Amino acid sequence: MKLPNQPENPEIQLVETTSGEVTLAIDGGQAMQAWERELMHETADILCTYGSVFLEVGLGLGLSALRIASNPGTQRHLVVEKYPRVTELFYERNPQVPASLEIVHADIFAYVQSIPEASFDGIFFDPALPPPVWDDDGLWDAFVPTLVRTLRPGGAFIPFFSTIPELRQQFVRFFDRVIVERRPFNAYPTTHYTPATSGDAYIQCFIHTGLDRITSEDVEKFKTKRAKEKKLAQGKKSKRSTTGRKPPKH
Ligand SMILES: C[S@@+](CC[C@H](N)C(=O)[O-])C[C@H]1O[C@@H](n2cnc3c(N)ncnc32)[C@H](O)[C@@H]1O
Repeated sequence: MKLPNQPENPEIQLVETTSGEVTLAIDGGQAMQAWERELMHETADILCTYGSVFLEVGLGLGLSALRIASNPGTQRHLVVEKYPRVTELFYERNPQVPASLEIVHADIFAYVQSIPEASFDGIFFDPALPPPVWDDDGLWDAFVPTLVRTLRPGGAFIPFFSTIPELRQQFVRFFDRVIVERRPFNAYPTTHYTPATSGDAYIQCFIHTGLDRITSEDVEKFKTKRAKEKKLAQGKKSKRSTTGRKPPKH
């Protein structure tokens, strides 16, 4: 599978300010901030209702990982993290972790191939990816079915919350059932990656019913339909001479 264009050795820093802001910075960008704690916990708690064996993509500050791993029902929580420095910083802050927590260093887009089918009851997907990666339709068309096959039927796939009340287009077509939970959020005054510093966040829980497996023919049909829609939208945009809204990280 094609790997997205991400830096191999970025500069990774944990930045703590006197006003109490905590930011994990990757190449100077805000990859994660501690104000997300409550939303991470909410997401983790929802995920844990789906079983006892989980996968998480992206360790970050480890807020969701610790919550999932310390849930009394959790037997195993595997976290795939691309950058070893992120894990070092995590262990400096959290020397004692639950026995169920296991962290591997890998790029999920490569590692996914090695995961056996129906291994997990739930997946929390929260990697910080450069914006062009989210727009790479071909990448998601190839990757999402490979990841979804690692869920048992009835398992849940939850991407990081959205601050826009729209189902995430990278995932929605691969599932027949979606449950959305709305929660308030309050970011830091310095947060760049949300459209506002407060508002509503939407936790989107995609359920792998087991009947929603799509064939490569379905993917082809979808691609054709989407290409037509894009062409149409571009035509409309250029007529109105406006620019499209860029989806923020969250
Ligand atoms: C937003 S943070 C995760 C936050 C986490 N949920 C928490 O509660 O702190 C994103 C993490 O994804 C990692 N990451 C980025 N790209 C990745 C990839 N391709 N594979 C695995 N991890 C990745 C980043 O290094 C970073 O640690």
